[in-house]
Amino acid sequence: MRGAALRVPREKGEETRQALRSVGVIRDDVEVLHEGDWVAFPLLDGVVVPPQWGEVVERELRPRRARGPADYRELLHLSPTAQGLLPRSFDVVGDMVVVRLPEELTQHAAEIGRALLEFVPGARLVGSDHGVHGTDRRRSLEVIAGSGGWKGRHRENGIEMDVDLEKAYFSPRLAREHARVAESIETGDRVYDLCCGVGPFSLIIARDAGARGITAVDTNPEALALLRGSLARLGSRVPVTVRNEPVESFSTVAEPVERVVFNLPLEGIKYLPSVARTVALRGHLWYYEVVPRRDLGRRGEAIVRALGRPGEWEFEGSRVIHPYSPAADLVAFELARVRTEGQ
Ligand SMILES: C[S@@+](CC[C@H](N)C(=O)[O-])C[C@H]1O[C@@H](n2cnc3c(N)ncnc32)[C@H](O)[C@@H]1O
Repeated sequence: MRGAALRVPREKGEETRQALRSVGVIRDDVEVLHEGDWVAFPLLDGVVVPPQWGEVVERELRPRRARGPADYRELLHLSPTAQGLLPRSFDVVGDMVVVRLPEELTQHAAEIGRALLEFVPGARLVGSDHGVHGTDRRRSLEVIAGSGGWKGRHRENGIEMDVDLEKAYFSPRLAREHARVAESIETGDRVYDLCCGVGPFSLIIARDAGARGITAVDTNPEALALLRGSLARLGSRVPVTVRNEPVESFSTVAEPVERVVFNLPLEGIKYLPSVARTVALRGHLWYYEVVPRRDLGRRGEAIVRALGRPGEWEFEGSRVIHPYSPAADLVAFELARVRTEGQ
């Protein structure tokens, strides 16, 4: 049988598999294709994935040999209504699994947890996700299966990162974006990673070694402690300064640099004018925002207006990172500073 598959270089295989699984678009009933230095993941019919994730190709697909269930839902035997409400996707962070359950499934949480624990290779702990809260975007998690705490190590883009899912924000769904931003850093660039969390952008940029220096800024001291631990293990030669400070105070005194990453998707807009002044002439800003799908076409130009005076900034493009809610996406905006104030 022929079908669509997402083809990526082999070294991007694991993170792509996780990204596809996290948005629930990978087919589990057919084999993943290994093609030399490439790997192709079969996609569900009619699915559209962001073009930067890889090339969509058509291939002959072979049914999976019987090797246990292809989907954790096969391990559950709930009523047809409850079975139909089971989420298709879940996140895997290190040996922890996080799933968002609709309220109707609360009474089945323990069974669902046990099924995920059995299904995900190496899983130790499963949590029901009650969302992120407060300024530090800490996740509220309820243990539904397994044991131990929410501290762990997650591998992303070949880097081992310390995480604590309750104490500091982390999402495995941004793995491709972390890598994409790192790929566009040029030798000698100075980088600000604003609202860095546990530092996935800083870590991959430091690992790739082209940058002259990185300053990582966040208000959550626990996120920064985790970042320091990961940096110590990474042992990069790129100097990384870690600052526990609000972006709004850092950006009023910071010297302008060539590359700025600003990832505070729900409230970042209010700090944009101040973040804008940390970007040097001909420098680039990556800004992340949750955008209602119907507004996406107009949002880039609106951000340019929020950043500064007419002619100061150019909108270079946007990418949908992942769906955020039924009607909105998390979107990356890339902006270039083409003129400074007063020029
Ligand atoms: C969505 S998370 C981004 C984490 C990280 N950049 C990533 O890709 O995983 C937002 C982060 O912003 C931090 N934060 C929230 N308000 C802030 C502020 N005013 N100044 C600095 N950091 C802030 C939170 O502590 C949180 O770690």
